[in-house]
Amino acid sequence: MRSIRMSSEAPLLAIEALAIEFAGAAAPLRAVDGVSLALWPGRSLGLVGESGAGKSQLALAVPGLTPRQARLTGSIRLAGEELVGAAPARLRRLRGARIGTVFQDPSTALAPHLTIGTQLTEVLAAHAQAHGAAARRAALAMLERVRLPDAVTRLGQYPHELSGGLRQRVMLAIALIARPALVIADEPTTALDVTVEAGILELLAELVRGEGTALLLVSHDLAVVAGLCDEIAVMYAGRIVESGPARAVLTAPAHPYTAGLLAARLTLDSPLDVPVAAIPGNPPGAGPRPAGCGFAPRCARALERCRQEVPLLLARDHGQVACYAPLAPAERP
Ligand SMILES: Nc1ncnc2c1ncn2[C@@H]1O[C@H](COP(=O)(O)OP(=O)(O)OP(=O)(O)O)[C@@H](O)[C@H]1O
Ligand code: SF4
Ligand SMILES: [Mg+2]
Repeated sequence: MRSIRMSSEAPLLAIEALAIEFAGAAAPLRAVDGVSLALWPGRSLGLVGESGAGKSQLALAVPGLTPRQARLTGSIRLAGEELVGAAPARLRRLRGARIGTVFQDPSTALAPHLTIGTQLTEVLAAHAQAHGAAARRAALAMLERVRLPDAVTRLGQYPHELSGGLRQRVMLAIALIARPALVIADEPTTALDVTVEAGILELLAELVRGEGTALLLVSHDLAVVAGLCDEIAVMYAGRIVESGPARAVLTAPAHPYTAGLLAARLTLDSPLDVPVAAIPGNPPGAGPRPAGCGFAPRCARALERCRQEVPLLLARDHGQVACYAPLAPAERP
């Protein structure tokens, strides 16, 4: 298995050769195309890439939330238990109890007609962890841990009475209250403004670290996740193209796509008279994917071979890279 970190300890999450395919007008679309990764207890992995890379489909597959029309093959094991093909009732039990999820928009994820307190205590009751007064005490303690102001009052409020940032704190509380072994957060702050975003992400990283929980954090922003996660995996056109320790990927990217993502990000604050270094062309859409390396149509380093054969994700420096012409240390930004 290609893994994000080698360890003698068994990984909590082990994904092998995962593929998720949708029927397309001309040919099937492989939203996730042979992804293998591993995540250990207490570690955090940031999954980054542009829109359409397959990040959400990968994140949804773990708790068994892949759309019904998709075909899923490969293996997803959580603490050794195979989840691909598991019974829906089993997956429902794992969600909340073993796998906490935080998705983009808290206004759709929270039930509008239930108070915050009820939504928290229902998670505990569903997993037979606490009922009645004990569940209410645990809910209050959890709201205080996510630093929701006036936690006692909030227990009796409905989602629409809270701002977007506070609703997302409630989502974190719901994801964490049953003390899951794994938290999956898919762009949890996209709907929020930048100052609120930073606070929520830091809180999320701090809470999972304190609990020894593993975190899979999906984002389109490499620099943001590199500041919060231990490891980074960069996705492009359904495949992982580079992975490794966050700092190494951020400071010494070896894949031309990772280097492009960083260059695009680093120019956002540049003066207006400096040309913006971005990646030319568009990420692949819902149409057929090119043969060979998916990034070849946009890559200034592409070789003939790149358009014919898919590069394998191979060990390099401290991490792994899938490229026939990776950046040498002297070329790195
Ligand atoms: N229900 C669906 N039916 C058909 N194709 C889908 C469906 N859901 C996703 N896809 C396709 O799968 C690919 C990957 O989508 P995914 O949502 O995982 O991307 P993403 O990396 O999360 O992007 P974003 O940053 O925009 O959230 C896209 O090309 C998308 O069009
Ligand atoms: S394999 Fe070739 S096309 Fe793909 S990123 Fe590397 S150099 Fe560019
Ligand atoms: Mg997404």
